[in-house]
Amino acid sequence: TTASMGLIGVGTMGSALALNIAENGHDIALYNLDPSTIDALIENAGELAPRLTKTESVEELVKAMPSPRAIILLVPAGAPVEASINALIPLLESGDTIIDGGNSDFRETQERTKRVEAAGINYLGVGVSGGAEGARHGPSMMVGGSPSAWEPIRPVLEAISAKHNGEPCVAHFGPDGAGHFVKTVHNGIEYADMQLIAEIYGLLRDGEGRKPSEIAPMFARWNEGILKSYLTEISAKVLEAVDPDTGQPVVDVIVDKAGQKGTGRWTVIEAIRMGQSASIIEAAVGARVMSSERETRAVAAGILGDGPNNSVTFDEDDLEAAFLAARILSYAQGFRILKAASDEFEWDLDYAKIAEVWREGCIIRSALLDDIATAFRGNLPDGRLILSDHFAPLLLSKMDQLRKVVSQAVLAGLPVAALSSAISWFDEVRQSRGTADMIQGQRDFFGAHSFLRLDKEGSHHGPWHADRG
Ligand code: 6PG
Repeated sequence: TTASMGLIGVGTMGSALALNIAENGHDIALYNLDPSTIDALIENAGELAPRLTKTESVEELVKAMPSPRAIILLVPAGAPVEASINALIPLLESGDTIIDGGNSDFRETQERTKRVEAAGINYLGVGVSGGAEGARHGPSMMVGGSPSAWEPIRPVLEAISAKHNGEPCVAHFGPDGAGHFVKTVHNGIEYADMQLIAEIYGLLRDGEGRKPSEIAPMFARWNEGILKSYLTEISAKVLEAVDPDTGQPVVDVIVDKAGQKGTGRWTVIEAIRMGQSASIIEAAVGARVMSSERETRAVAAGILGDGPNNSVTFDEDDLEAAFLAARILSYAQGFRILKAASDEFEWDLDYAKIAEVWREGCIIRSALLDDIATAFRGNLPDGRLILSDHFAPLLLSKMDQLRKVVSQAVLAGLPVAALSSAISWFDEVRQSRGTADMIQGQRDFFGAHSFLRLDKEGSHHGPWHADRG
């Protein structure tokens, strides 16, 4: 039996997903704190309207649905998810399923899965990507939960998902928080990719003094080649857009402060907890934080001197190569973090499948993901994407241009936090003899922490005590 569908949280995303579900032949019961959004949705739903049922409370929602029920939550992460679950538990029956489709912290999803399952109800934590457009016509979805909870819901999610050559962009990746973790890392990569684009835009705006309309065609052209991706495409469109009120380019009237809801930061926090570097994603999170300190930046510009203008010329081919190399490196960091989590939580994540699910519907969908999936079908040492037969030579062929762009930017005083961390990470990863011999020497000197030797077994101390006299 197919579960009857319900939805709590009928905002922009919820409305779009409800129409998608209805279009795929399911009736769906709706509840929202503010009922007027449901009225508006039904009014504009045309022939799909008869499939949509407005309810005025969680009790009424559950009553309106024959069992078994599947109730999707599309409410903000944190307290609203918690409140919805608490309201639902006493009303639901065994065989019913709660599906959290928001950007929840995967640790909360782990805990909630235990709690909800203990009450005899199924629970799925599903990362949903693609914004309102994706929700309406096919999002990419990353599922975590018990296989027995997933199987009955699978046909509906496959039907409403984005398709890549007919293959649904949804998959079950592991238990409890696995789906939300994969979505968190998706967003980490999203942050990095957005920042790389913003930095390249900045190089041309501030380094060359180009207008937005003189930068847009470059991104549009890149979108025809190996850098083809949703973010490349929309960046060209953002740069082309003209503000109807002032006739100015829209980007020129947008305040340069970026918001963030947490997923990028969580990627960095979880990476560090697992002893991994997410330096490119961290640069992106850091840049958003710095962007929000707009008033301080204005004061600092007065004291320290504002960035340069029209002081340098970049080669667009170098920029393209730099973006490609840094994009590959940020995907590589993201996948390495997924590998670390898979090991730590024993999820047995399927990296190739993750890349495939990201090929359509989600924000980071890009032409590279097919090759990334292929690379992971082979066996990569430690989950290192950059060691694959395909990506190693590709990366090596672009690194010099990434170095050139970053050098030009650094000498001119233009910020390139994400582009430059990509280089540093690359240079660290491939350094067979690192510099931690010095760290170990220092640790032993001040704390007698001991070190290993290249030429002898066992742990050793240096001769420093003699020096101390
Ligand atoms: C997506 C997006 C989406 C959203 C996030 C990140 O995959 O569709 O990642 O989930 O944009 O909320 O947004 P912030 O930039 O506000 O953190």
